[in-house]
This record gives sequence, structure tokens and C-alpha cells, in this order.
Amino acid sequence: MKLLLTGGSGFIGSNFVRVVLRDHPEYEILNVDALTYSGNPENLADVEDHPNYEFVHGNILDMELMSELMQRVDAVVHMAAESHVDRSIIDARPFVETNVLGTQTLLDALRKSDPDNTKTFIHVSTDEVFGDLPLDDKDLKFHEDTPFAPSSPYSSSKAGSDLVAMAYHHTFGMDVRITNCSNNFGAYQFPEKVIPLFVTNLIEGKKVPLYGDGQNVRDWLHVEDHNEAVMTVLEKGKAGERYCIGGNNERNNLELTHSILEIMGKGEEMIERVTDRLGHDRRYAIDATKLKTQLGWEPTRSAWPQALEATVKWYVDNESWWRNVKSGAYREYYAKQYGG
Ligand code: NAD
Ligand code: DAU
Repeated sequence: MKLLLTGGSGFIGSNFVRVVLRDHPEYEILNVDALTYSGNPENLADVEDHPNYEFVHGNILDMELMSELMQRVDAVVHMAAESHVDRSIIDARPFVETNVLGTQTLLDALRKSDPDNTKTFIHVSTDEVFGDLPLDDKDLKFHEDTPFAPSSPYSSSKAGSDLVAMAYHHTFGMDVRITNCSNNFGAYQFPEKVIPLFVTNLIEGKKVPLYGDGQNVRDWLHVEDHNEAVMTVLEKGKAGERYCIGGNNERNNLELTHSILEIMGKGEEMIERVTDRLGHDRRYAIDATKLKTQLGWEPTRSAWPQALEATVKWYVDNESWWRNVKSGAYREYYAKQYGG
């Protein structure tokens, strides 16, 4: 079974490659990635020579290349995206291009190469397509039938791609399956996202920029649990179905920041309160009952605080990885986003 993985050189994609090569030896992976700012070949340095792994440098907007690649695979796991909310507030254009048009390009390329709809297309999406939840009703969670109400340019571009993907199932009968996952954490996450940003800032002796009142809530899931869920949907899921993935692990940002400070032996004075993100979603929470009861998935690696401690330790132990990433263009982004 050969999988086309898009965006495999990013955070979740590179972990997917590692998880599949380690735990699912019957699969081969063909990773296509444009190597944008967040795509990094070093994320896969340990597996680049694996016999079941191949890399193609390419853009999902390239129809000719995507059509060629589709002929060589049995299924597609689509992760390539512009993924950072703050960058979508600075410039939304690449989000619409890659997330919406890139997804449509892939679907058309697959449709042409597979007129009998024998190949599965998994669209890896986000819980942010559902908008946000209030802080004062803890029983409310996102589920598969929650209406879309995206609030950022990023989440609206992901909602657009979800709708296009599902439309190709309804219109052409393609085997499209969508996953909507909550916030991931783990190794090799680009240090623009809150956990690696805060941990690496603290190692560098810098303060951590906490947005607004710090009460915004996220539902944290370890990246390996996310990727096992994607494999579960590939192997046991059904065409035309959506599956919500989450860790039942809600933390507000202040709580998360305190946990990181405690693990790293740093004090409250390292928190710098900064202006809130525009349109900052208040709370995300996932009800993953469908995935658990219908497909038998359970998270096994997200237990808190141990999984957070292990993640912090990974950044402490892998300083050369993030120091490379935090040089060059990253500095311009940091100055634009946080000033200074
Ligand atoms: P990331 O930014 O770390 O990685 C994205 C990858 O896509 C990079 O390797 C990049 O080079 C590649 N890419 C971008 N544009 C491309 C293009 N036009 N053609 C080919 N490759 C391109 O992102 P991530 O956090 O690993 O997220 C992966 C996917 O999972 C995204 O679709 C995202 O929306 C989704 N997701 C992320 C989270 C999370 O917490 N990070 C949660 C739920 C869903
Ligand atoms: O929910 C899934 C989504 O999770 C994915 O679809 C996105 O690709 C991924 O980036 C992530 O989005 P968030 O916006 O939730 O993640 P981020 O790490 O950017 O922020 C997490 C929370 O931390 C959020 O409430 C904003 C806050 N934050 C973030 C940064 C970068 C801060 O307080 N300070 C910061 O500097």
C-alpha cells in the first residue's frame, strides 16, 4: 500500500512519516512538500534513507506533478497547508492559495487518475473550522455535526478546503474522509506555535508573550495520537464521513504557561502580557466519541503533564534543530509579530 503524503516535511507530516514507518511496515510513503518556511528536511533526517520512504520536492498547486504522483499511489493523506493563524492575519493570500486551491488541485488530479474512485483521500483538517465555544459551558464541545463558523483567515481557508473536499465526495462519489483535530504538541513543531515558542524563548532567556487575558482554552493532543487517528480513519473509516479528533485535555493558556514555567524551573516574571490576537477564538474542545466508538481509537500518548514534560525535554535536548529554524527569516517574522 503506497500513500501520497502532502506536507510531510512539516510538524505533523514528519511525525506521520516516522509513526507509519515504525508501526505500519506494510505502507510506503511518497512525501510531496514545497518546503515552505515550516517545511524542513531536517525533520526527517533520521528516515530519509528508509526503503519505504521517498521525497518529492513540489507544490500541491502544480497540477501536472500532482497528476503524475497520483498514478503512483493507492491513497492520499493531505496535510500540506499554511497552518499558522497569526501569519494568516498578516497575509491571508497564501492561505487561500495553498489551503483552498491546493486541495482542489489535488482532488482534480486524483479524480483524473482514478475514475473508478478506488483510492481514499484523507483531508487533514482542524477543529478551528467550527469557530469557538464559550468559556462558561464546559459541556459544549465540537462534534461532527457542529456547523462551520470559522473566524480567522486560516480557519476560513481550512473550512473552504473541507467544503471543496466533501463536495467531491457528493458530486463525483470520491472516497473523501475528513478529520478535524484539536491542537497538537510534540517534537519538531515550528517555534511560532505556542508550546515550542515559549519553551525555546525560555531556553534563550527571553520572556514568553502571552496574548490577552490568557484565559483562551485549547484541547491538547500529542501529535502521535493524532497520526494514529489518521491511520485509523484510513484503515477503518468510511467514505464521505467526518471524524473529530481530540484529547479531552482542555487547558487555558495561563495554565499551560505556568506548567511550562514549572517544568523549566522559571518564574512568573518571565510572562510578558502582550496585545491579544485579533479575533482570538476563546475555546476549542472536541467530542471524539464517534472516532472512539465507531473506529476504536483512543489517545495513548497525551497524558498530562508527562507528555508535556517529554515535549519540553525534546526541545531542551535538540537545541541545534530549533536554533537553525529560529535564524534567518524567522527573526523578521518574530519582529513583525511581537515587535523588537
Ligand atoms: P506545518 O506548517 O508544520 O507544516 C505544513 C507543511 O506543508 C510544511 O512542510 C510545508 O512546507 C508544506 N506546504 C505548505 N504549502 C505547501 C504547498 N503549497 N505545497 C506543498 N507543500 C506545502 O503544519 P502542521 O502543524 O504540521 O499542520 C499540518 C496539517 O494539519 C495542516 O493541514 C493543518 O491545518 C492541520 N492541523 C494542524 C494542527 C496543529 O495543531 N498543528 C491541528 C489540526 C490540524
Ligand atoms: O486547533 C487546531 C489548530 O491549532 C491548528 O489548526 C493550527 O494549525 C495550529 O496552529 C493551532 O492553532 P492555535 O492558534 O490554537 O495555535 P497557537 O499555538 O498559535 O496558539 C495556541 C494558543 O496560544 C492560542 O490561544 C493563542 C495563544 N498564543 C499563541 C502564541 C503564538 C499566545 O498566547 N502567545 C503566542 O505567542
